[in-house]
Amino acid sequence: MTAEFLAPFQNRIEVKLAQRLNAFDQPKPLSDAMAYACLGGGKRLRAALVYLSAEALGLNLDQADSTAIAVELIHGYSLIHDDLPAMDDDPLRRGKPSTHIEFGDALAILAGDALQALAFQTLAEDTRLNPEARLRLIQALSGASGINGMVGGQVRDMTGEHQALNLSDLTEMHALKTGALIEFSAASGAMIDGNQSNREGALRHFGAKLGLAFQVQDDILDETSSTETLGKQQGSDRAQAKSTFVSLLGLEAAQEHLADLIATVLSLLKQSQLETDNLLALVHYMAERKY
Ligand code: IPE
Ligand code: IPE
Ligand code: MG
Ligand code: MG
Ligand code: MG
Repeated sequence: MTAEFLAPFQNRIEVKLAQRLNAFDQPKPLSDAMAYACLGGGKRLRAALVYLSAEALGLNLDQADSTAIAVELIHGYSLIHDDLPAMDDDPLRRGKPSTHIEFGDALAILAGDALQALAFQTLAEDTRLNPEARLRLIQALSGASGINGMVGGQVRDMTGEHQALNLSDLTEMHALKTGALIEFSAASGAMIDGNQSNREGALRHFGAKLGLAFQVQDDILDETSSTETLGKQQGSDRAQAKSTFVSLLGLEAAQEHLADLIATVLSLLKQSQLETDNLLALVHYMAERKY
């Protein structure tokens, strides 16, 4: 279900990511593993959010390219590591064998490491942005990725296995492991344009709730969808006794919780005064996605 409004942004990031990754063809097979993990798959919703928040602030999309690339590189790295046997042990990702199945565990780990470094290098080297903007983006993206962001959330996910987390712990885990990168993506336009830093707070509130809703939806789809539609193993959470919104609340209440979250997301978007047609369409697309 590729939506018409989304296609130009998906096409744009696909091209930009390929240019960035194809600039490195050595050493093999590391460069192949990095490209394998990041190209030719993925909905590109984080990149789209970067572009659409930039667009809503009246920026030129060229100014947002390095941020969109960087966030997809971090996301790609997080998926490689998330699928490793020591983590979720998932053999399928984006409809093809996970990177560690194709290249082995050691190379998958190293490809993730190199993608993470490349994300920050990409921001640091973007001479279209002024040094202050680059530093601000690097600070915010590293914060969203590390101990107080995605990685911190992944640790909570691991320790939450075979345990019944309460709603507040589960919300915090989701906000960190998935919400932080989506919050960053939504707010990034205001960091690219330092003159609009006063818009950052409102975009962050919107992005944080959107990110939380996104992971609640991911939990629901893990329960209700199929491996074929998802392009990743359906029922992985249940098989590993993960703490999810479905395991805590049950399917129906999780779906109601998601609907409440989306209502909040829409009202935060309105309040931000950046409610463009494209941002609205993206929220609806994310809420109604099937994979
Ligand atoms: C999957 O993210 C991992 C989560 C954080 C839930 P996406 O559903 O955005 O994965 P791709 O990029 O489209 O494959
Ligand atoms: C993913 O959570 C969080 C990441 C930071 C990658 P999941 O483990 O639920 O993601 P999927 O379902 O494997 O894509
Ligand atoms: Mg996981
Ligand atoms: Mg997983
Ligand atoms: Mg999942």
